Amino acid sequence: MVIIVTGASSGIGLSIAQYLGQKGHKVYGISRSKVHEKNVKSIQADVTRFDELKEAYQEIFDIEGRIDVLINNAGMGISGSAEDTTPDDANYLMDVNFMGVFLSTKAVLPHMRASGGGKIFNMSSVASKLAIPFQSFYSSSKAAINIFSEALANEISPFNIKVCILMPGDIRTGFTKNRKKNEVDSECYKNRVDRSVSVMEEDERNGMDPELPAKIISKLLNKKRLPLYKTIGFKYKIFVLLHKLLPAKFANFVVGAIYGFKKEK
Ligand SMILES: NC(=O)c1ccc[n+]([C@@H]2O[C@H](COP(=O)([O-])OP(=O)(O)OC[C@H]3O[C@@H](n4cnc5c(N)ncnc54)[C@H](OP(=O)(O)O)[C@@H]3O)[C@@H](O)[C@H]2O)c1
Repeated sequence: MVIIVTGASSGIGLSIAQYLGQKGHKVYGISRSKVHEKNVKSIQADVTRFDELKEAYQEIFDIEGRIDVLINNAGMGISGSAEDTTPDDANYLMDVNFMGVFLSTKAVLPHMRASGGGKIFNMSSVASKLAIPFQSFYSSSKAAINIFSEALANEISPFNIKVCILMPGDIRTGFTKNRKKNEVDSECYKNRVDRSVSVMEEDERNGMDPELPAKIISKLLNKKRLPLYKTIGFKYKIFVLLHKLLPAKFANFVVGAIYGFKKEK
């Protein structure tokens, strides 16, 4: 299969690209930095730039004559209070995480239709269902991906193009180090932001193997039908299920107690 992976220069995206490349698929990795991997053809493009994506996907289609799979994985994080987040930082995160998925999908669809169908995997997160305090824009961008993907799935089903929303829990990658922190944290938030971010970072450092999403996607590639949502990690499946079953206010209270530290110690 001809497969495009965005954000293929590190972490989950790099694992997916390497794994699927080793399985014999023709894998094209999209990122701003160049990747030098045996089984991955690297194209430098920024997911916030439609012109760059359009040119890259046209080039792939011209070489391969088809595009079967798109894995929209590129993403970034910001931590800190919503109040202290600058409008520029919030806009940039939405541009990369949400608009990037839209622009990449828009660029690939004509080629997938011409290929007679395909599969699109959008990398969301468990944080799209559990709104993480002091990561409000990250959670919002992932929730936006979910709703966009749900609507898209119905729009493109007549073209034999399937959509799957991936929701991993914590995974050990460079994401933790790459997460942008608010430049200023107001005194009234500072202690809670620091403690909350250290819980998040600890969870990520002890997180799952970055190869796990690759193995799951690889299995899904052989299936005729795709699940609309695929949560990655047993513990996170339970969190998502409980969140669905519990009253919204109580579920949000529990998430707040874990990450939001309601009372100063
Ligand atoms: N790690 C976790 O615990 C976790 C959990 C749930 C979901 N996720 C999601 O999984 C995805 C991958 O995260 P990761 O953990 O692998 O993080 P990572 O190691 O920081 O990798 C992020 C990737 O995105 C690319 N990227 C960032 N901005 C880009 C842009 N403007 N244009 C093109 N590529 C861009 C980066 O490449 P360049 O810098 O070279 O452009 C890099 O390849 C993200 O969507 C993240 O939200 C991660």
